[in-house]
Amino acid sequence: MDKNWNQNSWREKKGIQMPVYADLKVLEDTIHELATMPPLVTSWEIEKLRDKFSLAEKGKVFVLQGGDCAESFSECTSDFIVNKLKVLLQMSLVLSVGLKKPIVRIGRMAGQYAKPRSADTETRDGVTLPSYRGDIINGIEFTEKARQPDPVLMLRGYEKAALVMNFVRALTEGGFADLHHPENWNIDFVKGSPMSREYERILATAQNSLQFFETITQEARSMHRVSFFSSHEGLHLPYEAAQTRFLKHRNYWYNLSTHFPWIGFRTTNLDEAHIEYFRGIRNPVGVKVGTSTDPDKLKALIETLNPDNQSGRLVFIARFGADQVETGLPALIQTVKDLGANVTWITDPMHGNTETSSNGYKTRSFDKISKEIQLSLQIHQDLGSHLGGVHLELSGDNVTECIGGASGISEADLSKAYKTQVDPRLNYEQSIEIAMMISNNFNLNHGLSDIQS
Ligand code: PEP
Ligand code: CO
Repeated sequence: MDKNWNQNSWREKKGIQMPVYADLKVLEDTIHELATMPPLVTSWEIEKLRDKFSLAEKGKVFVLQGGDCAESFSECTSDFIVNKLKVLLQMSLVLSVGLKKPIVRIGRMAGQYAKPRSADTETRDGVTLPSYRGDIINGIEFTEKARQPDPVLMLRGYEKAALVMNFVRALTEGGFADLHHPENWNIDFVKGSPMSREYERILATAQNSLQFFETITQEARSMHRVSFFSSHEGLHLPYEAAQTRFLKHRNYWYNLSTHFPWIGFRTTNLDEAHIEYFRGIRNPVGVKVGTSTDPDKLKALIETLNPDNQSGRLVFIARFGADQVETGLPALIQTVKDLGANVTWITDPMHGNTETSSNGYKTRSFDKISKEIQLSLQIHQDLGSHLGGVHLELSGDNVTECIGGASGISEADLSKAYKTQVDPRLNYEQSIEIAMMISNNFNLNHGLSDIQS
């Protein structure tokens, strides 16, 4: 363990994308209170997820990471949580049948409350206020009061994350996820959707296999529970640090606010606060990489974040955009291969494909999202590497934020249910369609021998 590191050593470095609070006493009291609260996750679960990433590195499991761009406190309700879980469970079913591999489910859930912004301020009708940075920092309403960063929101965020985590755990461990009762996961508005017939077919395949196993083994397989992990961008370091604890029985520091924190694209500078914080925790760590990440930087990230080349520790989440992925990704994969570095590669086909529609909406095209995944699969295959997973912004609801997909959402449809607080998400149908697309392309790209290895 590095004697120069502790959960607050990042404070000595330049920290970006974090607010300046007016009342430092309230900030200090809040951090103190957070530091005394019980953890949201345990080291056992974190170690289990490291084991899963260790398998993902070798292509033995596939990671499905998804959820909102920004969770909001007001959507900490039964329906929103259940719908997000339903779509992730349905996608993982589709993927496991298609890829013939176990799927590791990770929600952008239970703590995805802090957002990086390209500008510190926002101006409307001549009025300039601080930008909205996520519910854990300030309010989204465009008023002086709401936009002031308030440290106490960290406590509200911790509480909301605990409520989400509690409900998700109860659902996934208590029978809701039972493959014998997939009707639990049905979503009312999808009846008659273009995706539903294909989904029913895949479900029947899964259930037949299950029945077959139960018949020949004469025992009901333990399919009534699934594992589910939480993740969020580890952006707001005062919050992350307050829940970072040294566990004597393991001799490591753990961030116990989430299983899988990741470093956002804008906060990967090697000499800055975020890298300093992340290098000292034991959790598996995600790092967003893209067009501005060259091989030298990738090498330095590997050396800093995983100097002992531990398996299951480092995850690169590539977000190039469909038009840049062929130019940028191969050199990074090659660097990892040349170094013999243990890394899980995940594709985020969302953040390099954001555009503005002609009618002024921040949107993404389903075709580009799909294309970036297909190209990434192909590039990994060509280089003898593994695409270990996918990272998506999605909603379990019937939103209209991304254009395209089988139901043909057009620019004119965007206004019908454009609800996101920050980035456009795939809706339920588009998400299932992406899972089906991955299944189809995966099998095209990987021979059966590879699937079975
Ligand atoms: C995000 O994942 O919501 C995000 C802001 O991504 P990135 O850091 O890759 O831009
Ligand atoms: Co986003």
